[in-house]
Amino acid sequence: MSATPEKILVTGGAGFIGSHLCEALLADGAELVVIDDFNDYYNPAIKRGNIAGFRDRITMVEGDIRDVALVDSVFASHKFDKVFHLAARAGVRPSIADPRLYVSTNIDSTLNLLEGCRATGVKHFVFASSSSVYGPRQRPDLAISKFTRLILDDQPIDQYGDGSAARDCTYVEDIIRGVMAAGRYTAHRLRFRNRQSRRISREHAGPADLRHRGDHRKKSQDQLAPGPARRRAAHLCRCLKILPPLRLRARNAAAERAGALCGVGEKTTLRKGSQ
Ligand SMILES: NC(=O)c1ccc[n+]([C@@H]2O[C@H](COP(=O)([O-])OP(=O)(O)OC[C@H]3O[C@@H](n4cnc5c(N)ncnc54)[C@H](O)[C@@H]3O)[C@@H](O)[C@H]2O)c1
Repeated sequence: MSATPEKILVTGGAGFIGSHLCEALLADGAELVVIDDFNDYYNPAIKRGNIAGFRDRITMVEGDIRDVALVDSVFASHKFDKVFHLAARAGVRPSIADPRLYVSTNIDSTLNLLEGCRATGVKHFVFASSSSVYGPRQRPDLAISKFTRLILDDQPIDQYGDGSAARDCTYVEDIIRGVMAAGRYTAHRLRFRNRQSRRISREHAGPADLRHRGDHRKKSQDQLAPGPARRRAAHLCRCLKILPPLRLRARNAAAERAGALCGVGEKTTLRKGSQ
């Protein structure tokens, strides 16, 4: 624990991953300001439950990061050392139904926060990326939660596409260790990648660059877990909804790169994590 507590802004801190991150940051001695709008993408009561255990140890700003005046006033009222930006509209299919909501929340609001950092000199900004995270307090719209409900209701599990798509699943504690490590990481070089993974690099002494990269590489399920867990993982992945029009066969997390940069790796197998 450092002598002067770090002052940290967590957006989306009432969500699944954000609430786990808040717990880890509080355990690390940080002083937290959390912004969350408790929207009804899923039941807001779940989000209130997520923060119940530490609500009295944070400054909770109940509001929308799309609101520029609100974001500016939060940055003006606090001198943040770091920002962890996890507030987002998740879910691929709903984003097709309402793309403007997704762009304004996930893109415009990120700019609002970056502008807040620029105006107040915050140099460390950690931004959530993609992959699939599971574990305690998992969002109800995610596969393991949905499949569990269907199994308990004796309903068939919807097999998306032709059932051959696969996706890495990372246990939430492993993600939190990675996010915490990203919060401590100072990059020497910032790398930009596009979908085809062409790389543009430039020397940079700025904030961390940690992300999971969705790509089209096929990855052996052997890397997830051995034996029955591998079969369960394969079954789980067959059932995961991957957008058929994109012909996305497999989505892997570039965990090796995150591990090399920040010194953390995945520890929890799907078998252990899903128990
Ligand atoms: N769960 C996963 O499998 C997974 C995997 C990879 C990346 N992510 C990313 O991690 C982040 C957190 O995901 P999660 O699973 O915890 O989702 P979540 O929906 O549980 O958490 C997001 C939180 O952000 C809040 N929020 C959304 N829009 C907001 C707005 N405009 N203003 C203020 N608050 C707002 C929500 O109320 C919610 O509490 C997201 O960026 C998500 O895309 C999630």
